[in-house]
Amino acid sequence: METVPYYPVNEFGPVMKGLVIGGLGILHVFLAQFAIGGGMLLCYFEHLAQRGRAPHARRFLDSYFKVLVLISFVAGALTGVGMWFTTIQVSPRTIGLMVDEFHWLWAIEWTFFCLEVAAGYLFYRYGSVLSNFTRIRLLLAYSVAAWFSLFWINGILSWQLTPGSWIESRNVWAGFFNPSFFPSLLFRTIVAMTIAALVACVVINTMKEPDGGNVSREIRRALIQRCAHFLAPMVLMPLLGAWYLWVIPDDSRSWILGGSPAMTLFLATAAGASVLIAGYAVMGLLRQKLYINGATATLLVALAFFATAAGEFVREGARKPYTVRDVLYSNSIGPRELARMRQIGSVTGDPYPLADHGRYPAEVLRLGARVYRFQCSVCHTIAGANGLTHLAGSWSPEQLRMNFAKLQHTKAFMPPFAGTAEEVEALAQFVMWESAGAPGSWPVTDADSSSAVQDDRRAVIERIERWLSEAGTGPGTALRYRPDVRLLDGAGRVGGEKTERANDREGGR
Ligand code: HEC
Repeated sequence: METVPYYPVNEFGPVMKGLVIGGLGILHVFLAQFAIGGGMLLCYFEHLAQRGRAPHARRFLDSYFKVLVLISFVAGALTGVGMWFTTIQVSPRTIGLMVDEFHWLWAIEWTFFCLEVAAGYLFYRYGSVLSNFTRIRLLLAYSVAAWFSLFWINGILSWQLTPGSWIESRNVWAGFFNPSFFPSLLFRTIVAMTIAALVACVVINTMKEPDGGNVSREIRRALIQRCAHFLAPMVLMPLLGAWYLWVIPDDSRSWILGGSPAMTLFLATAAGASVLIAGYAVMGLLRQKLYINGATATLLVALAFFATAAGEFVREGARKPYTVRDVLYSNSIGPRELARMRQIGSVTGDPYPLADHGRYPAEVLRLGARVYRFQCSVCHTIAGANGLTHLAGSWSPEQLRMNFAKLQHTKAFMPPFAGTAEEVEALAQFVMWESAGAPGSWPVTDADSSSAVQDDRRAVIERIERWLSEAGTGPGTALRYRPDVRLLDGAGRVGGEKTERANDREGGR
């Protein structure tokens, strides 16, 4: 009997797993992009210094480099390792697939990272005694390496949402240079330049003369004007953003553009914050040659951070219900495996016992808890963030059963339910039990053997089976409800194949 590989499941209490990855991921992305833009900015200022075209360029460069090393090397590297730790806890199968598919490309990415670290360290240690010629080459090596680590990782991450023709060919390069590769690479490059320039404005405001006095305002203004050039490419952002929206799957686009109010709100936040920064840069810094003080610069960096955070939230959210489009649902079940689990059960082969086995007064609740753990816990908690008792605690038993059985139609950013009717019923009982405050006894037990109870139970299971087969096994986005089509046999198999094909057509863009 073929089933999926089961991994141990970690839970973080009321904190949704997505929030753990998201929080760390946003910080990491922000720091990494700062490192990339920072490298470019350093090359530019070293060039200016060597040509004598900007007074104090070198003093600025040295202060800036210290910030860059401290932040990008130390915090960036730590959060980067942290990403591996958290993602393998939450989504081991997805990470496994990514490593399987792209291990050589990932290895290449690491060589660039090593080059970045080596060049950065050498500059840090010996920069002050090196010739101009060596200094600029070292900085160039640093910034090219930093940008290329983005280049490589960007291909792997954008593949998750738009695997493109890789789906058919399984060709690594088709997956790497996928439809959203270029818009997201260019967009991120501009974001990196923006962050670097804004941080530079903060650093310029903290610079001191060797005697401890403040650097004159005129000199600071001149340096800030130079930095502002790095903000100019922001005017291309709407274009690149539109390109990105154009190439992503239809349903992902529809979440972002109104289908999911939360995502739309976050998109608006990201766009709004970027417009404010760009407006300030273009009107204030470039056209009116304004000065920008430390407090304002810090505020703009914060704004850029929130824009990044909101943007990453939208990008991650738009991938639902998949972690790898058309290949793995967010709960690490493949579309074909899902159809099979409808027949054999989703947790039948799950070897891991419940950590709190003794807490449940009935076996059916234990089954429900295991189904929840395997299929739902990646996106939900029981009573915390996106908690099931908040979302469905007031639903009637029939409402729970039907909405779980038709999960992908309840909300299309959820995958279809992957188990049997008995598992749907157990999950419904589990949610009712949790919503009731996890009482020490529960009326529905497996010991009920009177024939009236059994008949009633049989009728429930039959109703759930009907709902499961009406829902089919394809994603909710591919299958609009069509009353004229009798899709399925009892096990939901025929419909599953139909809708998967429908999805292949729709999702292949
Ligand atoms: C891919 C992530 C994901 C998975 C997996 C997932 N859900 Fe959801 N679910 C969501 C999101 C996002 C919402 C929307 C929450 C909101 O509207 O505030 C949601 C909403 C719900 C709701 C409320 C629906 C409504 O219309 O109000 C219920 C009930 C629910 N999920 C149950 C489940 C159950 C049971 C499972 C496991 C069998 C599950 N979900 C698996 C992401 C997921």
